[in-house]
Amino acid sequence: MIKKCLFPAAGYGTRFLPATKAMPKEMLPILTKPLIQYGVEEAYDAGCDVMAVITGRGKRAITDHFDISYELEHQIQGSSKESLLTDIRTLIDNCTFTYTRQNEMKGLGDAIYKGKVLVGEADPFAVILADDLCFNPDGDGVLRQMIDLYNKYKCCVVAIMEVPKEDVHKYGVIAGREIEDSVFMVDNMVEKPDNDKAPSNLAIIGRYILTPDIFEVIKKTKPGKNGELQITDALLTQAKKGMVLGYKFKGNRFDCGSVEGFVEATNYFYDHEKKPKAIEEKK
Ligand code: G1P
Repeated sequence: MIKKCLFPAAGYGTRFLPATKAMPKEMLPILTKPLIQYGVEEAYDAGCDVMAVITGRGKRAITDHFDISYELEHQIQGSSKESLLTDIRTLIDNCTFTYTRQNEMKGLGDAIYKGKVLVGEADPFAVILADDLCFNPDGDGVLRQMIDLYNKYKCCVVAIMEVPKEDVHKYGVIAGREIEDSVFMVDNMVEKPDNDKAPSNLAIIGRYILTPDIFEVIKKTKPGKNGELQITDALLTQAKKGMVLGYKFKGNRFDCGSVEGFVEATNYFYDHEKKPKAIEEKK
């Protein structure tokens, strides 16, 4: 059973300056909901109830968001605004939120390693990068799809999607053999390769299922691309033992770590999802 989901959220979000100068990038809203809440809802819908967040300096708004706000809730009690807090209250009432800090930006592998104290070493766990907003209008969320796959194969799973060849340098990239529809047995993976040296155009998206032995592997992994400890490099060690699957998920993904992707997500949710309740009410 995968009950714990890790949210690396220590990054500075420099691409969104000045908005992220004093506000965590994970709190930027798509319509009325902060990015990280989309991720937490996806994890909750997939059956997780422990949300383990790797934070850093200047990230207290995340902790406050996933807590009761007595004064505010008292103020709006009995008014139509109360319903705007229904979703977040469901998460707060049903999940445990735990936090630790990554003190220095040493890479995603390091951030995940910091999460060891939160998720423990007994069970597999999920990882969601909130920057990658995933949404499947036609069925199960991406993490639930991946957990189903984990339950079948019992090994690490990374979400992948095809990207244009000129974009592969922005991602971890896998190569592998398709063993069933949309499922690849990974035999190579490279963090942000040059476009002409990438093993394929199958890019890793910010959703992972990791087995707890990954912590020992991360410990032994040397810093890689940009001098940072890369989870892609640690997973390559696992892949060489035939223990990593790449899964081409069903649904949409928006790169909300970039302004363009953020705007695209905003437009998509405005057009396709429910319009924000606050706007509907004003009509
Ligand atoms: C991270 C991972 C990369 C992955 C990407 C997905 O990179 O290191 O392998 O493809 O997330 O968003 P980042 O975008 O944090 O630099």
